[in-house]
Amino acid sequence: MDATKINLVNNNFSDIMLNRHSYRKFKKDVKISNEEISEMLQEAISAPSACNLQSWHFVVCNTKESKDKAHSVLMPFNYPQAETASTIIFILGDTESHLKYRDVWNKAAEKGQITVEERDKVFKSFLPMYEHANRNFLEKDATLDGSMIAMQLLLIARAHGYEANPMSGYDYDRVVSTFGLDNDRYIPITSIAIGKPDEQYKESSRYSVKDVTDFM
Ligand SMILES: Cc1cc2nc3c(=O)[nH]c(=O)nc-3n(C[C@H](O)[C@H](O)[C@H](O)COP(=O)(O)O)c2cc1C
Repeated sequence: MDATKINLVNNNFSDIMLNRHSYRKFKKDVKISNEEISEMLQEAISAPSACNLQSWHFVVCNTKESKDKAHSVLMPFNYPQAETASTIIFILGDTESHLKYRDVWNKAAEKGQITVEERDKVFKSFLPMYEHANRNFLEKDATLDGSMIAMQLLLIARAHGYEANPMSGYDYDRVVSTFGLDNDRYIPITSIAIGKPDEQYKESSRYSVKDVTDFM
């Protein structure tokens, strides 16, 4: 993606990252268009993913009907976000992303980003690894990819002038089927409520780096 073509409201990296906080109450009258959400997702999918598998899938709840569905799977402590956010995006992991994996590398070869030999090497290494992987491996991989993109989306939301809250407090077993998707294929990673805040954020503390780090 051409970074010079992105028009961000806030392009100050330290502000975007260090002043990100979870907001849980949003101004109800603010709408975010599907076009802008698509832009945010386009920017967010610059995220890295294992072997470039891009094992993510998005469910955008941007209508009353879909927000009601989101509400129906979220835990009660997330109702304030569900009832006030401009949009709620569920990030799902795709455990079958390897089935379309050839397309990514064919495209890269066509564009001259890699040679045909490099592409074929991938088809003989990464691809069989996923084709023979067990469910646990595929789910872990999809969870990592989905987490990468979730973080990007949290920051991109700020760059677009919004605030957000990641929410994994939901009925894990019902999320995918509630949105009519294939329960065997997709797994919930997290959801993100986005909007203009209607509250002061609450400062959250962190353990010290010293306490969570071993320099070897
Ligand atoms: C994976 C994940 C799941 C979370 N789920 C919820 C949730 O269900 N409800 C909620 O209010 N906050 C949720 N949070 C937000 C955390 O509570 C919050 O990030 C943490 O307390 C630190 O606060 P901060 O985001 O303001 O820095 C979640 C965060 C993460 C990373």
